[in-house]
Amino acid sequence: MPKKIFKIGVLTSGGDAPGMNAAIRSVVRTCAHYSIECVGIYRGYEGLIEGDFKAMEARSVSNIINHGGTILKSARSKEFRTIAGRQIAFEKMQEAEIDALVVIGGDGSFTGALIFNQEFGIPVIGIPGTIDNDIYGTDYTLGYDTALNTVVEVIDKIRDTASSHNRLFIVEVMGRDAGFIALNAGVGAGAEEILIPEEDLGLDRMLESLKRSKRSGKSSSIVVVSEGEKSGKSVFELAKFVEENLPEYETRVSVLGHMQRGGSPSCFDRVLASRMGVKAVELLLDGKSNLMVGIKNNKIETTELSKAIKGTHHIDKELIRVSDIMGV
Ligand code: F6P
Repeated sequence: MPKKIFKIGVLTSGGDAPGMNAAIRSVVRTCAHYSIECVGIYRGYEGLIEGDFKAMEARSVSNIINHGGTILKSARSKEFRTIAGRQIAFEKMQEAEIDALVVIGGDGSFTGALIFNQEFGIPVIGIPGTIDNDIYGTDYTLGYDTALNTVVEVIDKIRDTASSHNRLFIVEVMGRDAGFIALNAGVGAGAEEILIPEEDLGLDRMLESLKRSKRSGKSSSIVVVSEGEKSGKSVFELAKFVEENLPEYETRVSVLGHMQRGGSPSCFDRVLASRMGVKAVELLLDGKSNLMVGIKNNKIETTELSKAIKGTHHIDKELIRVSDIMGV
């Protein structure tokens, strides 16, 4: 029989993402709904090791659903990667009588949660929060939709100046290992070319496509590049490469960077976070552990944390085809 849960701890870990606050709110309020205690843990696993806890009740999370970032703050803890660090974290949880954890973060955070469970038997449930959308077991991660909207809005603005000067813009977006942001925002913003880590079609193909664009009468172009793209060239080197090979193009670079992680979450992310938070708490109260809450075909579903960590969320090849056709 799993131990009865009286108090749940919630933390955010790894890169922050819009919608994390909405997920914290949902966890806290679901605990209140079931009359159990909830504790916010600051700075992810760092705060777990330091015992940096705060009791949270329904009113502690008023007016945060619309805010980006995370009120609990986030960190990537080196100490939690050591058995000694995790031992201290366990002791701090015992002292504070926290029975279980909801971990909002990416696969690195889930790996830590799983090891912690295996070593100390603490029930853990993961909620996928990362703008990269690169987690297996869910169609969408928290923050991804907001980041897409941010990127599209910015590229729309870049297009204004690109077309005024007849320039080619190379725009770098986030996505260390995955091209979800580049591909979807690229299609949404009408980019002429999109370079992603999952598809290395070679730079000659890009040059050919840009030549075709010029011939077909396009005066300005946008190339969206995912930061994890595999050509081996930085965006600045890419710009130089294009200018050397196609002197008819005047090229500029824009690296969007961390602004993609900020901002008020979209309605989609707020709703998703609310649904995931409810499910996470209910799973713990049902005696479940080592699961990630995800969404598939608009249904909340669960995946074993071990699979979520190891599996790959594949990009939609059909969207690559759509992008190619649109770039005609
Ligand atoms: O949140 C994921 C991500 O945005 C990656 O795309 C990016 O490479 C990374 O975070 C950068 O994060 P940081 O600057 O916090 O290390």
